[in-house]
Amino acid sequence: MLKGKVIVVGVCGGIAAYKAADLVSKLKKLNAEVHVIMTRSAAEFISPLTFQSLSQNYVITDMFQEPRTWEIEHISLAQKADLFVIAPATANMIGKVANGIGDDMLSTTVMATKSPVVFAPAMNCNMYENPIVQQNIKYLESLSYHFVEPGYGRLACGDMGRGKLAKVDDIVERVIEIIGYPKDLKDLKVLVSAGPTRESLDPVRFITNYSSGKMGYAIARAAKYRGADVVLVTGPTALEPIAGVDTIKVNSAIEMYEAVMEHSGDASVVIKSAAVSDYRPAAVHEHKIKKRDDFNIPLVKNPDILLELSKKAENQVRVGFSMETRDLEKYAREKVLKKNLDLIVANNLLQQGAGFGVDTNIVKMINRQGDIESFPMMAKDELAHIILDRVREIYKEKHQAHL
Ligand code: C5P
Repeated sequence: MLKGKVIVVGVCGGIAAYKAADLVSKLKKLNAEVHVIMTRSAAEFISPLTFQSLSQNYVITDMFQEPRTWEIEHISLAQKADLFVIAPATANMIGKVANGIGDDMLSTTVMATKSPVVFAPAMNCNMYENPIVQQNIKYLESLSYHFVEPGYGRLACGDMGRGKLAKVDDIVERVIEIIGYPKDLKDLKVLVSAGPTRESLDPVRFITNYSSGKMGYAIARAAKYRGADVVLVTGPTALEPIAGVDTIKVNSAIEMYEAVMEHSGDASVVIKSAAVSDYRPAAVHEHKIKKRDDFNIPLVKNPDILLELSKKAENQVRVGFSMETRDLEKYAREKVLKKNLDLIVANNLLQQGAGFGVDTNIVKMINRQGDIESFPMMAKDELAHIILDRVREIYKEKHQAHL
């Protein structure tokens, strides 16, 4: 994801400095070229050798150390960088940058760069809440510097409060969001539905399906990376929320219907990867149903959300999913027309590596004209981008728009 990108990781002197080693390692695994600049106090907490080994680049700690190249180091790195990430960022470093002070290698290089800069603050909670620090953060944000908010918890000093370095995965996520992809879906509002629905029978039981929500979450994340304004309507899943995605949690198909209708009015794209239950119990019992010898559950039909949606908005790009266990192409072709979709993504649930729960999928895509594209097994994350590529093409055709 970060191949060819040059990232400068700035490490300041706080106990969370050791976590920056994990950050460097994760950025390297995503194929970024990583350079580390440490402040002098950071080098008291963790050895530059750790970062040198992980980044496979010489670590800079001192403005006046013997130069190893003819280039003026802080200028060349500042120019080369696609992004700076300062983790942990101390109150001191935030204060210096906010006030235009460059008195060490890191602050000087940050002052000299035109690349995006991400701060991941970590400090004592009282320090973080200090109005001066908060004012510096607000000021930097107003100048388009990025911040990954620290977490809440027990801090190294023993205090409970906000000040823990954000999770390394969240910092990486922000980096990818900023430089990982071209923003080719900017200005599009994309509504994605994900996960199963739960249709209550009584206070302890419900009807559901095996959907994990992974495909829908992958699409929502990919759309966000590509600059779209994303709304995710999700049934119950075990997945972590996606930072920066407006997420609406629902349980039943009726709730999903209402949420989709409410939020899709101004959406340019609707991608319905949710596995919506076609039926729900006709009645929800107030009390737990007692054991009996024979028992029937009368069912009634749920609204078809996609079908209802297609009656409302013509200009939207609508994508449906089709999960089948046989006659995949036949059903998918029927559905694309019946539900008035632009594209259907069809997968055979019985194929190994496809469908519910797994991280991969094997799909065929069928458009309104009936053209079929078959794809080999691939990660749902990768497939999400291909679906969005097709969506982008369809959107451009429909709107004669440049994106
Ligand atoms: O007809 P079928 O349920 O196979 O169609 C699947 C597609 O329709 C999926 O995109 C699913 O999210 C959507 N769907 C819906 N409302 C329903 C059932 C399915 O929007 N009640």
